[in-house]
Amino acid sequence: MSAFVTVKGLTCVFDVSKPWLNRVLERRGKAFLTAVSDVDFQVEERTTYALVGESGSGKSTIGRMLVGLLRPSDGDVEIEGINLAREEDPAKVASVRAKIQMIFQDPYASLNPRWRVRDIITEPVLTQGGDLEGLAEKLLQQVGLHPSDAGKFPHEFSGGQRQRICIARALASQPRLIVCDEPTSALDVSVQAQVLNLMSDLKDELGLTYLLITHDLTVVRHMADRIGVLYLGRLVEEADPHSLFETPKHPYTQMLLDAAPRVDGFGREVPPPQGEIPDPINPPSGCTFHPRCPIATDICRRERPATRKVGNALVACHLAE
Ligand SMILES: Nc1ncnc2c1ncn2[C@@H]1O[C@H](COP(=O)(O)OP(=O)(O)OP(=O)(O)O)[C@@H](O)[C@H]1O
Ligand SMILES: [Mg+2]
Repeated sequence: MSAFVTVKGLTCVFDVSKPWLNRVLERRGKAFLTAVSDVDFQVEERTTYALVGESGSGKSTIGRMLVGLLRPSDGDVEIEGINLAREEDPAKVASVRAKIQMIFQDPYASLNPRWRVRDIITEPVLTQGGDLEGLAEKLLQQVGLHPSDAGKFPHEFSGGQRQRICIARALASQPRLIVCDEPTSALDVSVQAQVLNLMSDLKDELGLTYLLITHDLTVVRHMADRIGVLYLGRLVEEADPHSLFETPKHPYTQMLLDAAPRVDGFGREVPPPQGEIPDPINPPSGCTFHPRCPIATDICRRERPATRKVGNALVACHLAE
């Protein structure tokens, strides 16, 4: 059986050049930023695949390419065997798109403040026709809110409740895959767990598949079936949670985990790993992690490491063993 989502050689390059006249006057060429570079992974149906990495590592860019908000510069996204970038038949592409939804980090910014909750929730299914009677009320109940909340406006809710509304809206079109981009980062710590539990329950109940984007390792540990660690747009390690947390293979994963135990019981922000994230427009040669890597040698400065299997993990490191 093939995977539900297959991502192959996924690459995204942004043109970040200054306007033409500035380039001529300053005698500069074009500038390109590689946000995602040759990323491969698969997500099995009814599982959660987590993407972790520091800010700017390309997590959201991958999520946006998956749901079709952004066109890959190269590589393929296949969902249920249909290649979204290359499929010619628009009806097939639309039928796959209809199965995917996205939940964003900021639940307030993604809700139209002038609309009543009922209209917000049913908006994704308006174009599909069908019976909308009582749909918003049913979905509100499903996410732990009251059916009468359908008549209210977004500002009448707390952050956690707003994220529940976003989840209800995502569920309206009966998706099978939900891309969750930092779904709880903007929430108060006390409600993060509630929203995550709700997401877990819905996943089991409705047979959903999640791509979970987060920088919070504790979330990943409890929710993910498989974890991909991104560094500067590249997948440097991929493993199941147990292998990743117990025996991290890549020095960058080790660095991330070393920072993690310092989270206190209140889940306060984890201090970032040491060193600066390099400029993605002029990334370091060879392995892009080498300037921060405690064990880097000559080959790391020269050659970009291929991804290989070490134990239970897939690792892109010359020295991982
Ligand atoms: N539209 C764009 N144009 C130019 N550069 C972009 C664009 N979108 C993202 N980038 C760049 O691509 C890189 C990856 O960005 P992305 O938003 O995917 O990171 P992220 O891992 O989601 O970070 P965060 O944890 O802060 O959300 C960053 O260097 C960012 O500046
Ligand atoms: Mg992001």
